[in-house]
Amino acid sequence: PNGKGWAFDLCLYEGFWYERLFGLEGIMFAQEYFQARPTNVFLISTPKSGTTWLKALIFAIMKRTCYTNSTHPLLTTNPHECIPFLEFRLFREPPVTDVEKLPSPRLFATHIPYMLLPKSILCSGCKIVYVCRDSKDVLISLWYHMAKMRSKDLPPLSLEEGFKLFSKGLSGYGPFWDHVLGYWNASMECPQRFLFLRYEELKKETSINVRRLAEFLGQPFSMEEERERVVEEIIKLFSFKRLSNLEVNKNGSLNAFTKSDVFFRKGEVGDWSNHLTTQMAESLDQITNEKLHEFRLFREPLV
Ligand code: A3P
Repeated sequence: PNGKGWAFDLCLYEGFWYERLFGLEGIMFAQEYFQARPTNVFLISTPKSGTTWLKALIFAIMKRTCYTNSTHPLLTTNPHECIPFLEFRLFREPPVTDVEKLPSPRLFATHIPYMLLPKSILCSGCKIVYVCRDSKDVLISLWYHMAKMRSKDLPPLSLEEGFKLFSKGLSGYGPFWDHVLGYWNASMECPQRFLFLRYEELKKETSINVRRLAEFLGQPFSMEEERERVVEEIIKLFSFKRLSNLEVNKNGSLNAFTKSDVFFRKGEVGDWSNHLTTQMAESLDQITNEKLHEFRLFREPLV
């Protein structure tokens, strides 16, 4: 494969595909300059796995004593601004934000595969949350996202073509399965540092997982907060419906190419069934089984 097909040409580096300007270069800078601290929190994912939602939840959990509901920054700021991506925002030249001056606890996100994570992240002992999602829903979400990012001069990319590229591992930060596997193995080896979440579980049992996240991140909800139903408020405040209808997420933009609304589409589990043929779905499931099943990753059927 030659890295062409989606909205941007991709290049292969150490077994994974990257967009050069909005991926690989930032990773190189981050590897060289980023100094993680033990108190940092990292959210890691492959694109279209629920990163935006989890950014909102993690920010809301970690900063909950700083804001009231009506003045909460997430009501007027896109989640990607509240928790910046290491490789797109912080380590692209010129640096947009001074990383050292970010208020503690510093919250970051990245799509960097495990094997290319800056060493200081692994050495610092900081907490890492990884979110993965059913490959079929990731493909559909990615296909819609890329259609919006694609230059108007290019002919539209059919779903069949997108499916072929994705199945071959050719998508930003792909192969999808290798990315998941890297973090799954790390979370098995070091569960106190890695929390491995699935989008489907987060959708089905949001409150259990919000409490799990808070505990893992060292900020469990107190009895008083439970009495005040803080968990339920966070979930409501940053639900798909609420987040996707905020002006900043509907009509804002993140940069010259990216409108905020590309991160909000349907927010459902199983939308693939409205798009993929049975054959396509089975083929993706087969890859998942071959690559991930022996690791007991998808031990329960997806909801
Ligand atoms: P769909 O395209 O299937 O709707 P990412 O943030 O990693 O790019 O993932 C985007 C996906 O997460 C999109 O999936 C988007 O709609 C969904 N999403 C965004 N906010 C969400 C929320 N609050 N709850 C559930 N899903 C959400």
